[in-house]
Amino acid sequence: MLFDTHAHLDAHRFDADREELLKSLPEAGIGLLMDPGCDVASSLAAVKLSRENHWIYAAVGSHPDAADNIGDDVLSLYYDLAKREDKVKAIGEIGLDYHYEDIPREQQILCFRKQMALAKELDLPVIIHMREAAEDTLKVLAEFPQVTGVFHCYAGSAEMAKELVRKGWYIGFTGVITFKNARKLVETALTIPMERMVVETDCPYMAPEPFRGRRNDPGYLYRMAEKLAELRNISREEMEDITFQNGQRLFRICG
Ligand code: NI
Repeated sequence: MLFDTHAHLDAHRFDADREELLKSLPEAGIGLLMDPGCDVASSLAAVKLSRENHWIYAAVGSHPDAADNIGDDVLSLYYDLAKREDKVKAIGEIGLDYHYEDIPREQQILCFRKQMALAKELDLPVIIHMREAAEDTLKVLAEFPQVTGVFHCYAGSAEMAKELVRKGWYIGFTGVITFKNARKLVETALTIPMERMVVETDCPYMAPEPFRGRRNDPGYLYRMAEKLAELRNISREEMEDITFQNGQRLFRICG
């Protein structure tokens, strides 16, 4: 069984066939799934999905792309959802993205810091989005040594992953691990202990090979487990079990 630790099933690209897809996934081997919020609307939608499906959990938070819109009202909404809803298990996805820089760095850092403080207050793990912003991300994290969680769609160095694992973090592998040019990520997968690996689709984005270019969905998650199993020289079933248990430990979901 698989745990998709990062799937945006609330995304509009699933509007037309979401019900069908939800019905098909448990049969396709998806035992648990985490739907992270990107802003207020998607956080609320993720919570709704978690209420309606016993195998779906939710995270609430604002992605760096939505960092221009996080006032005290938004923070208190996230706080209330996390307190009230049993199935909200993390704050995320939050972090820094310097790739496009539509939102100024200072604003992103402010938004990130506020949500790290929220996670600390609520004693919840975080789901980190980090793109071309390693140095500043680590600086903010250093202000909150009690807070850990997962680096989703990890794109840093193997060296940095090792250091993160040492501090208690988990590393999330998407379909990128199946791409031909994933040399750095393969090195990471060979370096860190298996007990800290989780798999994720990040759907609807990032479909793995040989489905690249299509809309991604959790039905393709087996490819990530297959690839990691091949790299670590164990069976796919073993890798599925290990990453499933890791996901439960990460989000503190009882087995
Ligand atoms: Ni995401």
